[in-house]
Amino acid sequence: MSELIIHGPNQLEGEIAIHGAKNSTLPLMAAALLCEEPCVLHNCPNLSDVDTSLKILRHLGCGAERSGGDIFIDPRTTDHFDIPDALMREMRSSIIFLGAIISSMGQALLSFPGGCELGPRPIDLHLAALRKMGIVINENHGCLECSVPDGIHGAVINLSFPSVGATENIIITAVRAEGTTIITNAAREPEIWDLADFLNSCGAKISGAGESTVTIEGVKHLSGCEHRVIPDRIAAATYLAAAAITGSTLTITDIIAEHLAPVFPAFDEAGCKLEIKDNKLKIISPKRLRRIKNIRTMPYPGFPTDAQAPVMAMTTLADGTSMFVENIFESRYKHVGELLRLGANIKVESRVAVVEGVSRLSGAPVEAADLRGGAALVIAGLAADGITEISGLKHLDRGYENIEKNLAQLGADVKRI
Ligand code: UD1
Repeated sequence: MSELIIHGPNQLEGEIAIHGAKNSTLPLMAAALLCEEPCVLHNCPNLSDVDTSLKILRHLGCGAERSGGDIFIDPRTTDHFDIPDALMREMRSSIIFLGAIISSMGQALLSFPGGCELGPRPIDLHLAALRKMGIVINENHGCLECSVPDGIHGAVINLSFPSVGATENIIITAVRAEGTTIITNAAREPEIWDLADFLNSCGAKISGAGESTVTIEGVKHLSGCEHRVIPDRIAAATYLAAAAITGSTLTITDIIAEHLAPVFPAFDEAGCKLEIKDNKLKIISPKRLRRIKNIRTMPYPGFPTDAQAPVMAMTTLADGTSMFVENIFESRYKHVGELLRLGANIKVESRVAVVEGVSRLSGAPVEAADLRGGAALVIAGLAADGITEISGLKHLDRGYENIEKNLAQLGADVKRI
């Protein structure tokens, strides 16, 4: 079992390039199944979730290879329509393959994604939408058995919540369906726009991606294409929080600043100065952060739930009381207990967490229970006095490429043992 060992407190300095977005790469890899020619995805992060997607594609019979940041997918040899339970469990967001498999193979057999670190992971919105498009889905013995007796057709789908995964699954399913699909109350995250951009380059007819209403006119054929994955806005926010808590000046590069706009007010309020030039962002942090009055996680363009834990870690050392309201996931405060071990003062009541800033954190053994919660522990560990040992790294490795090497290169005393 590996651990990160951080000797703190640290200060960071220099430049860090932000890798491609995990949450774009996964749906793009699934969408490539729809194509009739090979695709190349550039700027793919080297993460365990991406490896799991490669395994899923290979299991389905696709050619799927990685070379550095490039992933080559040849969907022409696809000959399976199932995802084994072990792979579904490795990555619960593998449900994103559902629409792609059913659309390309006419049937699909996936095990049901059960609960996960963030609480129950319902897929009712995905299933209701796909059923409306003519897909018959039987839920049997923990499996989803899907078939298309009369073809997939377009539909008007009003989502009761702008679910990212459901919006992606519907877009992917609708791209080669008969007729037009209209999604209202669609998720507006940049990753949706990236997916539509990729599919449109392959010949799809998707308009409105990134807005609340997305229209997809079904097409008969999709070619392949080369596509560059957008930068990972959550990794960027994580490095910003690491700089902020350590009082550092840091430049993050290869970003799209517009995608980070929902987190900027938090850093402004904490007293950090942000300087944006093209695809670079310099953060100049004060010696002591100010409290952030109120952060409510919301669908994009609101404050992202994925940045809640990293930014909460940063407020543990702020001057004053910060409040967080988690509106997206039920069980997203698992990092709190571990932050308390480091000396933080946080109270949680249902969806609300109140952080009283303390003047000092002290290193301790802690365990990551989920991906972004793990990042919160790294951020706190960087600022804590003494040694912080972080276990549960499999969660961190799902979302951050070379995190310890990157931080070490910025001057932090971090090692993986
Ligand atoms: C995606 C992201 C994840 C991020 C989340 C919210 C990927 C791979 N993951 O997850 O990092 O935290 O968006 O920004 O892109 N819900 C239902 N029924 C459904 C689907 C969702 O009730 O059928 C609920 C969920 O339980 C949750 C909320 O909707 O409470 C948001 O989930 P959703 O937007 O679907 O998140 P994911 O796509 O799973």
